[in-house]
Amino acid sequence: MKTAVIGLQWGDEGKGKIVTYLSRNYDCVVRYSGGSNAGHTVDYGDFKIVHHLLPSADVKKQKMMYIGPGVVVDFDVLIEEIDQIDKLLPHARSLLRISKQAHVVLPVYKELDEKIDKSRLNAIGTTRRGIGLSYANRALRCGLRIQDLENTSKTRYFIQELSHIWQTSIDVERILDELIAKYNKTRDLLIDTVQAVRTLKDKDLLFEGTQGVLLDVDVGTYPYVTSTNCSSTGIQSGFGYPVQLDQVFGVMKAYTTRVGEGPFPTELKGEEGEKLRKLGGEYGATTGRPRRCGWLDLVLLRYAVELSGCNSLILTKADILSGYDKVPVCVAYKFKGKVLESLDNLELVDQAEPIYEIFDGWKSLESKEFERFVTKIEKEIGVKFSHISTGPRVDEILKI
Ligand code: GDP
Ligand code: IMO
Ligand code: MG
Repeated sequence: MKTAVIGLQWGDEGKGKIVTYLSRNYDCVVRYSGGSNAGHTVDYGDFKIVHHLLPSADVKKQKMMYIGPGVVVDFDVLIEEIDQIDKLLPHARSLLRISKQAHVVLPVYKELDEKIDKSRLNAIGTTRRGIGLSYANRALRCGLRIQDLENTSKTRYFIQELSHIWQTSIDVERILDELIAKYNKTRDLLIDTVQAVRTLKDKDLLFEGTQGVLLDVDVGTYPYVTSTNCSSTGIQSGFGYPVQLDQVFGVMKAYTTRVGEGPFPTELKGEEGEKLRKLGGEYGATTGRPRRCGWLDLVLLRYAVELSGCNSLILTKADILSGYDKVPVCVAYKFKGKVLESLDNLELVDQAEPIYEIFDGWKSLESKEFERFVTKIEKEIGVKFSHISTGPRVDEILKI
């Protein structure tokens, strides 16, 4: 069984919790895309883990974790997270493997990430985690792979070349020493992609998406996106093998949030937005930034479901809306006098005027009103819900 869990909005849909819950039925959770820009908060009840780089496998169930070659690895974050899970479960680190062909995020990439974003006429509002720089350097063929750290002179040459290309002054020997020291701490966990593929390809794998379809570099709201194919299309390259997916779970919040800049037709500004932000605890797990909040947008959801190949929906955070008298949902856009229910292009999103259908609010997730909301989404999207998350804890979930 090969399954993917994909975010259907602009990230932070609750993928981490869902992956942890589902991981019990799989041999291994695989990260294939992104880096420490991701922030997946998993609430076990007695403790919480925020995963930036480590796959959100259930630590209590001792599931394997694999970081594929499509991920960019920040050693500082990696080492901190390994220490964290090792304290929770002795020898947890032995369950983790990292592809040697994954690229390394250097501290200087984070400085450049901020510098570039500040130099833009319209900032993207990146997480400053050096993600764009890592993938750009990979594409420019001046990136450093983890395997290159086996060879000190090769690494020295790389750092020198990097300082020439980016015209930035770097203390080469200091960076080299720091990198090698960090590399040595994780050496026992490294594996060639081909070996990992041979070991894993016939196992039950759960591919953990990061970000969301609308932040995908090819099908998202470009240029306000991340630098990877974080949607399901990135799985093959990010794992390094032509995986045939049996199932694609799409995770969606009952409302919408976005961190950083870019179009957001259903955004609630002012007090209404602040109310939802406070109720939902909508502050970034990676940067602490307040998330922009707004109503559910079925036009964008239809688009994300179609392009991700999603065949099962999972709803999160509907409990946050409990107590609202009315719940508006955007069912179509008005654009140049026309009513659009689906989009061929996201270019017009920032000029779209949402058309809302107003639902009666619900007091609990067992109510008729909530059932009506769920049925309406299924009908509008043409895909059924398989699970409904009823709270932040991993065990707070209903299977339908
Ligand atoms: P991810 O990046 O998609 O994994 O999502 P985040 O972890 O960044 O943000 C989702 C937040 O909502 C986390 O703090 C979760 O613990 C929490 N969460 C997930 N599902 C639910 C839910 O159904 N209800 C509530 N109240 N919180 C949830
Ligand atoms: P998870 O996996 C929400 C956003 C940033 C910015 C844009 C580009 O937790 O859902 P980047 O640092 O990737 O170059 O930033 O993408 N972004 C996210 N927003 N959740 C995330 O991850 C995100 N990862 C990146 O805010 O707008
Ligand atoms: Mg997140």
